[in-house]
Amino acid sequence: MQTKKKAEPGDRPLPAHVGIIMDGNGRWAKKRFLPRSAGHKAGASNFRTITRYASQIGIKYLTVYAFSTENWSRPQEEVSALLVLFRQYLEEALRDFAEENIRVRFIGDTSRFPQELRQLIRRVEEASASKTGMVLNLAMNYGGRAELTRAVRLLLQDVKSGVLSEEEIGEEAIAARLYTAGQPDPDLIIRPSGEERLSNFLLWQSAYAEFVYFDILWPDFRPEDLDKALDIYASRQRRFGGA
Ligand code: IPE
Ligand code: IPE
Ligand code: MG
Repeated sequence: MQTKKKAEPGDRPLPAHVGIIMDGNGRWAKKRFLPRSAGHKAGASNFRTITRYASQIGIKYLTVYAFSTENWSRPQEEVSALLVLFRQYLEEALRDFAEENIRVRFIGDTSRFPQELRQLIRRVEEASASKTGMVLNLAMNYGGRAELTRAVRLLLQDVKSGVLSEEEIGEEAIAARLYTAGQPDPDLIIRPSGEERLSNFLLWQSAYAEFVYFDILWPDFRPEDLDKALDIYASRQRRFGGA
């Protein structure tokens, strides 16, 4: 009898950096006649499962899109429910992630969040700063355009103050002023839920990322689906503009 061999790390070229657009929570809830907030709760719980799995199989950088700069336009009730959920999640993360070798970083303008949440963000970053395993970037109030606008402002400041000359403005100088400075670009971006768009995620960094879309709503996305995405990634031929 032939048994299907489970994919082991090392069997396939593993992306160093994976991005996930966690989408489909609302539709997941709707299908079950539940409020959208119930979908977000299920999504947050799945986020933990997938994060742990990614770290276990040796992904070095994982960036997850949790809240976009455009998501503030949702009904106040939904935004409030999300903020409560973020707080609960981060409190749990402080306890649980203590045992995991994951370094948590936040990308996006977190200054717009309520003070209590901002404090928690700082505590989570500090508590995991010395971890040596997977880097987890949590994109919260993140937008690719806002990130690039911020980089332009930082460049201008540095030119004005003489830290940087005008001639030194180039791709490296820009990349160094993004939230992901010092990290490799994402090799693979996964979007569940059936939508096939970037929605302002990692605009600069995704220049040569491979995209994998799934017709699965985020709360239903399993570790096996991540494995499937990694298999698809391994079968792609990346050319970076070469022949
Ligand atoms: C993603 O799920 C979570 C956030 C954007 C915060 P959605 O809430 O966008 O779910 P759908 O797309 O409406 O199903
Ligand atoms: C993208 O999902 C943002 C996050 C998953 C956090 P959206 O649901 O906000 O994107 P659109 O509106 O479908 O493009
Ligand atoms: Mg959505």
